[in-house]
Amino acid sequence: MRFQEIQIQFPVIAGNLRSFWVIASWFLERSATGRKPVPPGCKKRDVPGEVGVSKSNRQVGGGKLFSRLQMKILFLNGPNLNLLGQREPEIYGHTTLAGIEAKVRERAAELKVAVDFRQSNLEGELVGWIQEAKGKFNVIVINAAAYTHTSVALRDAISAVGVPTIEIHLSNVHAREEFRHKSLIAPVCLGQITGFGQNSYILALLASVDVKVVGKTN
Ligand code: DQA
Repeated sequence: MRFQEIQIQFPVIAGNLRSFWVIASWFLERSATGRKPVPPGCKKRDVPGEVGVSKSNRQVGGGKLFSRLQMKILFLNGPNLNLLGQREPEIYGHTTLAGIEAKVRERAAELKVAVDFRQSNLEGELVGWIQEAKGKFNVIVINAAAYTHTSVALRDAISAVGVPTIEIHLSNVHAREEFRHKSLIAPVCLGQITGFGQNSYILALLASVDVKVVGKTN
């Protein structure tokens, strides 16, 4: 091969070697970590997955797109909280759950954190959401309502997934009937916010944002 031919062919050979190396290292990383690495040619933010990686092609909760490393907080509401506004307003206030959600979303937008807000009357559904939160949400805020005082299943789910969880209540459960003084979930939560009406939700949001700073995990 003459010198000129080598000069022409070198970029072709080098290009092929580079492509081979990019593809080979992708497969190596995949087999070493067991996780799907960023495919060659893609940016990291295009890969949906764990907390800290955006779902630029997926929507969660209020339909907002999460930016990379944006904090994600899951608000869970238990039985009968769908009746807020009409349910014992002298205890729980006149604001509906949708009204509370709107306030939480407004404040969350100011704090630049993403929230998902859900309610269920079913214990099993709440357990399922807690389990699914692992790796997807940084913090869970839960008003487990009556299940607070009865549910071993919720307590076990919170304990099992290890996502930092904050317990909240609209009313001051300690100033009410004795059966409300006992919370089965409190020992596996970071803390309890109780008695501030709808502000309990906002206080929990502020506490959630601080969870990383405080560095508490459970
Ligand atoms: C509540 C208090 C619970 O004792 C009660 O069962 C609820 C609401 C609260 O937000 O004050 O349903 O969690």
